[in-house]
Amino acid sequence: MDKYIFVLGSNFKLSLAELDNVLNFSRFKGKILDYSANIAVVEFEELHKNKHYINDLMELQYVLGGIQKISKVFDFVHINTLMEAFPTHIEKYKIVEKTRSKILTLINNSLPKMFKRIKNESLFFAVSIYPNFYDEEYYKNVLVKHLLPFLNKEIMNLLKELGAKKALYYKYPEENIQSGNLNPLFPHNLIKYGLFNEDRAEIIFGITEEGMYIGRTYSCDDPSYKKKIDEERPFKEFKSSISPKLAIIMLNFLNLFEERESKKILDPFVGNGTILLLATIEDFQVYGTDNDAQKVHNTYRNLNWLLNDLEEEIPYKLKNRIKQVEIKNLSEHFEKSYFDGVVTEPDLGPFFRTKPYYKEAMDLIQNKLIPLYSHAFREVEIILKPSGRIAIIAPIISTIDGGDVSMNIENIALNNNFKVIPMMDLERITNKSNQRLQFQKSQVRAFLDAKKGQVIKRKIFVFEKNEISNDY
Ligand SMILES: C[S@@+](CC[C@H](N)C(=O)[O-])C[C@H]1O[C@@H](n2cnc3c(N)ncnc32)[C@H](O)[C@@H]1O
Repeated sequence: MDKYIFVLGSNFKLSLAELDNVLNFSRFKGKILDYSANIAVVEFEELHKNKHYINDLMELQYVLGGIQKISKVFDFVHINTLMEAFPTHIEKYKIVEKTRSKILTLINNSLPKMFKRIKNESLFFAVSIYPNFYDEEYYKNVLVKHLLPFLNKEIMNLLKELGAKKALYYKYPEENIQSGNLNPLFPHNLIKYGLFNEDRAEIIFGITEEGMYIGRTYSCDDPSYKKKIDEERPFKEFKSSISPKLAIIMLNFLNLFEERESKKILDPFVGNGTILLLATIEDFQVYGTDNDAQKVHNTYRNLNWLLNDLEEEIPYKLKNRIKQVEIKNLSEHFEKSYFDGVVTEPDLGPFFRTKPYYKEAMDLIQNKLIPLYSHAFREVEIILKPSGRIAIIAPIISTIDGGDVSMNIENIALNNNFKVIPMMDLERITNKSNQRLQFQKSQVRAFLDAKKGQVIKRKIFVFEKNEISNDY
């Protein structure tokens, strides 16, 4: 059966959860068979049977927020073979030589499948190695310093032996190889170097606890467009904005994959409209509210800018879709059960430059955040369809004297006729032996998205409105 490597984003657990959810509930049905902190290996039920499966992969790439690249697997090297061929310390040269040549035979058989034509062609390739973890000594000392140069040289030779007129490879900066501090090729470089052309390829070596998957990349994220939305929109405010990737991931947890163009999405704390901008490029009908008139204006202008850029028609009465509304009164402005989904990041509290004291954080939670979130759930319950979902961010505040504090958002949701949707189905994934790779039951009810040292961390939750409304 055909397998595919999905290169994960930096928050790999969130990327895995998003991918698994899409493989479970969208038309791209499949399963994650294996994973590391950098890749997932996927098998599809149907997609691979389609003659134009590469178009499907590109479509799937567009839907996913947390995936950098998708490659097709052509062969696999068992972990024991890899460790024999590239041990931490070489003791038995004969075994090393023998297993290395075994690996080369596999690569030699894969190359004619990766390149449409080899004979008499001038070819260019880039090797990208994805380890189990970047911070492993094995990556720094063995994979970067020995496996990478070996693959570059030997693949070049193999292509020539297979009849290529010329074979060149992408040279990573020597200082990165020497220090062992190397990032595999970023998506924008794949585009820059034309590695999707017939005479060019990115050859991927993705390593998990099980072994090394050998593949060729067929699709990658186009970061430049999301970056443009993030950086070039007329109104932006980085400290309070979520990343475009996170906005897409949250939209995917609404499980609205079909006929998106008819699905109505609301962000009731719209700010400068990041979520709505990304929901627009993912084809949804977008609506937003905020109690700050300036923010309402900013979102309206940002949406106009994006629609102009996309050369798309401005929806009829767009102005009526972006309104100034205090969250307490949200349900006065829309019909009952009007929306298919809600994605939002409410006020997370003031922007703390340094950690607050425990008491200050608790006051904020008790007096401001709990009332705000309670109003939001009460009102959203009315305007959301039965079984509709809300993907919402809640803050975790690091304090000087009391560790991390947060509010009980699950309780608020429960009291307002919602149930928690765990973001990862543990039955669908085989756990790994390395603790850092494991998913715990308690962890999958919500996912953290935070950078090191952030005072306020974002936690993402997904809730579903019960089928029976509060009115009955
Ligand atoms: C964290 S920001 C949202 C940022 C947004 N995700 C973005 O990317 O621009 C929260 C927003 O909630 C709005 N807000 C705060 N309290 C509110 C309330 N009681 N009713 C409605 N909106 C409120 C603020 O004006 C602010 O724009």
